[in-house]
Amino acid sequence: TQKVTTAYFREAKKTGKRITMLTAYDYPMARMVDEAGIDAILVGDSLGNAVLGYESTIPVTMDDMVHHIKAVTRGVKRAMVIGDMPFLSYHVSREESLRNAGRILQEGGAAAVKLEGGREVAGTVRAMVAAGIPVMGHLGLTPQSIHQMGGYKVQGRDEAAAQKLLDDARALQEAGVFAIVLECVPVPLARLLTETLEVATIGIGAGPHCTGQVLVTHDLLGMFMGKSPKFAKRYANLHQEIIRALTTYREEVLGGAFPGPEHGFDMPEEMLEKLY
Ligand code: KIV
Ligand code: NA
Repeated sequence: TQKVTTAYFREAKKTGKRITMLTAYDYPMARMVDEAGIDAILVGDSLGNAVLGYESTIPVTMDDMVHHIKAVTRGVKRAMVIGDMPFLSYHVSREESLRNAGRILQEGGAAAVKLEGGREVAGTVRAMVAAGIPVMGHLGLTPQSIHQMGGYKVQGRDEAAAQKLLDDARALQEAGVFAIVLECVPVPLARLLTETLEVATIGIGAGPHCTGQVLVTHDLLGMFMGKSPKFAKRYANLHQEIIRALTTYREEVLGGAFPGPEHGFDMPEEMLEKLY
């Protein structure tokens, strides 16, 4: 199987073929997402909420990211693996930003990084791209700035905010990103952005007109502990299914129904007699 690369994103944008992307944070889920034929796997810093038990993405560190990206890349044959740059890992200095992005490729084995922000990160994006590191942008609702945005809400709703989003998207494109995630922006604005930009847009809560779509896999599977956002369609209820399996196990152990003879290993009767 041929690996999905940034060229696949460019081609899809040109031909109008939709790109599918989902998150994964560990080896088994990466294998399943890849086997399902999803084009790209984002090891998002949603890791913090989905599997580390944090209330936001802010506590997630570079070491956390690299650890989980490594697990994911070990499970993937075809999908392009993109590693999220966590809070403050690309702001302190150009040098630190490059080293951190480099770790995601060199130690993690990912094929690209993703980072949040517009014009303010364009110089950093340019430097990464110049170093051979493909970068995916992320605009609209950017969870690492949650304290500044004052809550998880739809972005770009008034004219000034919409114009800023357009300017930010163009700045990212000029800086060399191969795609931009649009999170929680009005459907018509995501459409305008997709029509205006040369690079692919990947929507999450941004309507059907984007080049591709992404969801947090734990939301989609119904195995998220917190509350899932409105845009996250649930395709399964694994939480309920897991609780059912676990309580059945407990009941069977308490009642003596498990383990049964088929779960044990026998030994010859004569040997047993000697031992007694
Ligand atoms: O961390 C993440 O999962 C993300 C996606 C929601 C785009 O950034
Ligand atoms: Na993220």
